[in-house]
Formats: sequence, structure tokens, C-alpha cells
Amino acid sequence: MAKLGLNVDHIATVRQARGGTEPDPVTAAAMGELAGAEGITIHLREDRRHIQDRDLEILRRTVQTKLNLEMAATDEMVGIACRIKPEQCTLVPEKRQELTTEGGLDVVGNLAAITKATARLHEAGILVSLFVDPTAAQIRASKESGADAIEIHTGSYAEARDEQSRHHELAAIREAIRLGNELGLTVHAGHGLNYVNILPLTGLSGIEEFNIGHSIISRAMLVGLDRAVREMVALIRRP
Ligand code: PXP
Repeated sequence: MAKLGLNVDHIATVRQARGGTEPDPVTAAAMGELAGAEGITIHLREDRRHIQDRDLEILRRTVQTKLNLEMAATDEMVGIACRIKPEQCTLVPEKRQELTTEGGLDVVGNLAAITKATARLHEAGILVSLFVDPTAAQIRASKESGADAIEIHTGSYAEARDEQSRHHELAAIREAIRLGNELGLTVHAGHGLNYVNILPLTGLSGIEEFNIGHSIISRAMLVGLDRAVREMVALIRRP
């Protein structure tokens, strides 16, 4: 059964809005785990706009499930990851101006650098997942890089505005899962998923982990984090 990786970046975004100490993503992570999240995901960005080094260091000691660190494949980030040793690193593309991660990693175009980063992370005992668009070329290159897993970028699916394009994006995701599994890669999915568009995905077998942040934290502002996480976990575990 698929697991929920709760992304707590947006808790840190609210904290950084005032530059103070609350709300604390460390507290949110613990509450999320108590409500059924089976992983905690954070993105340590180069510009430190939300998650801080301090959060990563404390979460490494407090997360009881699995800590998934999203990061760019830079020397700085790989060095930090090798020191902190999260269970998993998800390599993502990163641009300073973007509001959130835009598009998947170009593994095909950066194969040497990603292979090198993956090898360094493996030496530190860290599983490596690559955030990629659902295309055969990127998935095959992910396998070639030595990565353990892919996280299928579900942004285009989530943003599809009509039934035909949703159907098209869903077919691409289904094919990506099939190919990933065939190549022996663990398959995760994430980006833009919410309480409605998750439903067709939970019906697909072969996805082990959904990484979800914005929709859960948004709902938590209105109904509380415990309820927001429990509701998403129930959807993911639906038979
Ligand atoms: N997975 C990856 C690789 C991401 O970069 C993000 C956004 O930080 C997410 C999942 C979560 O996306 P969302 O906040 O839209 O649920």
C-alpha cells in the first residue's frame, strides 16, 4: 500500500514570513507522523526560503518514520546530505525565481552529474530518488544513473483543466509507473496533488509513496493538521 510523505515546507514558509520561531516544521512533522504520515519530506533550497539547516538537523533526530530530503544535485547539498544522512534524498531541479519546483529533473541532459551525486549519496547509505517528468527517456536515464527510485512529477496532471488532457496526463503517469517498475525502480509520485485529484492515482498499483505538501497544509489551516493528514491517509489507503 502506498505511503504518505508529508511535506512540511509550507509550515516553514509561514514561520519565515515573520522570521521568528513559529510555527515550527519540527512540531508539524511530529503531529503528521502521529496522524499517520509514513514519511516527512522537506526541501532545503539553496536560498533557504523556507526550510532552514536547523530544521534538517533537528528533524534528522526526531523523525520516527522516514526523512526524505528534496534538494538540488549541487556539491553543497550533497555534502550536507552526506553529513546529516536522511533515509532518502530526492533530487529536484531548482531555480531561484520559481515559486515552487517547475518541471522534472533533466536526467538525460545531466546524466554524469546526477550519476556522480547518486554515487556519493549511496556511499553515505542514502537512498536516491529522482523527480522526473513521466517520459520514457528520463526514466531510462534515471535507471542508468544508479538511482533507486523515481518520483513522477504529477504537476501536468494536477494542472490539466479538461477531461481530455487529464486523461492524457494520467495515461502518461500509468506508463511511467509501468516502465519504472519494469526497470526495477521504486516509484513515487508528487506535486500538485490534492484531496480530489489523488483519487485516480490511488487506484493505480505500483506507486509506493505520495509526497504531498500544499494541499494538506492549506486544509490544515482550516481543519487542523491532525484531521488534514488523517483524511489524506484515508484516501491513499482506500481499498
Ligand atoms: N515532490 C516534489 C519533488 C516537490 O518538489 C514538491 C514541492 O515541494 C512536492 C512533491 C509537493 O508538492 P505540493 O506542495 O504541490 O504537494
